[in-house]
Amino acid sequence: MFSSVTMEQTALITGAAKRIGKAVALYLAEQGWNLAIHYHSSGRAANALQEELEKTYPNQKFVLFKSNLQNPFAVEALIPEVLKEFGDLNLLVNNASVFEGSSIQETTFDLLDRQMMINYRAPFLLMRDFARLVDRGIIINFVDTRITTSNSDHAAYSLSKKALWELTKMAAVEFAPNFRVNAIAPGVTLPPEDKDESFLWKLAAKIPMKRPGGAEPILKSLEYILNNDYLTGQLLFCDGGENLAVR
Ligand SMILES: NC(=O)c1ccc[n+]([C@@H]2O[C@H](COP(=O)([O-])OP(=O)(O)OC[C@H]3O[C@@H](n4cnc5c(N)ncnc54)[C@H](OP(=O)(O)O)[C@@H]3O)[C@@H](O)[C@H]2O)c1
Repeated sequence: MFSSVTMEQTALITGAAKRIGKAVALYLAEQGWNLAIHYHSSGRAANALQEELEKTYPNQKFVLFKSNLQNPFAVEALIPEVLKEFGDLNLLVNNASVFEGSSIQETTFDLLDRQMMINYRAPFLLMRDFARLVDRGIIINFVDTRITTSNSDHAAYSLSKKALWELTKMAAVEFAPNFRVNAIAPGVTLPPEDKDESFLWKLAAKIPMKRPGGAEPILKSLEYILNNDYLTGQLLFCDGGENLAVR
């Protein structure tokens, strides 16, 4: 009853080639899931992940799906393509994201468009299609602990994640009882690709837990969401208390 082992079940993870998405893919594969591994520009990393998973779990199925989530036609094609390949889909993890800093006044049209289309419109359309095309399932959306503040240093990014959290709750109501829809809000987790660990520790000094979280708390929250079949419309912070206070 408490096991998350879900043999012959399939998950679609967006942005799964690297970093948190890859950690989610490795975790779900270990739990017995078949995976639709979505990526955009990280073809080499996606291929390496697929190869590693196929070698480790030869009885499971791992298929790569390349698409640009800024393109609405590519987004609308994704769930049908996954269903064509796997026949069914049981879990959608909206992980792919772009993270660009700029205040409201500095925000260009292109930056606003990227942030909203990739971080908000794409998950919206994928959730819609999942609920339309599949009988029942679980959706997990990655937001950010930043949604609790009104800091405008990453204005468009923060607003895209605030919108995704509102959508999470709305979908939890509309899609129930056959779908559960929840969100995970990481905080200081992994450094941006152009920064190192010391950057992360500097940020972490300001949060209650005083250390970066890494992927582990996120995977524990993922496991909790999968195993708790009465949980819907909820947000699990994986942020070492950052949503409460930053000093
Ligand atoms: N890292 C953190 O500390 C942190 C903190 C708070 C919240 N989060 C949230 O947690 C999630 C994972 O974080 P992360 O740092 O691992 O994410 P990330 O590395 O910034 O991005 C994940 C993936 O998103 C994909 N992506 C970007 N633009 C795309 C596009 N146009 N079309 C399709 N895919 C696109 C990329 O795939 P390709 O590489 O294949 O192009 C990328 O690998 C995100 O939703 C993020 O907002 C992370």
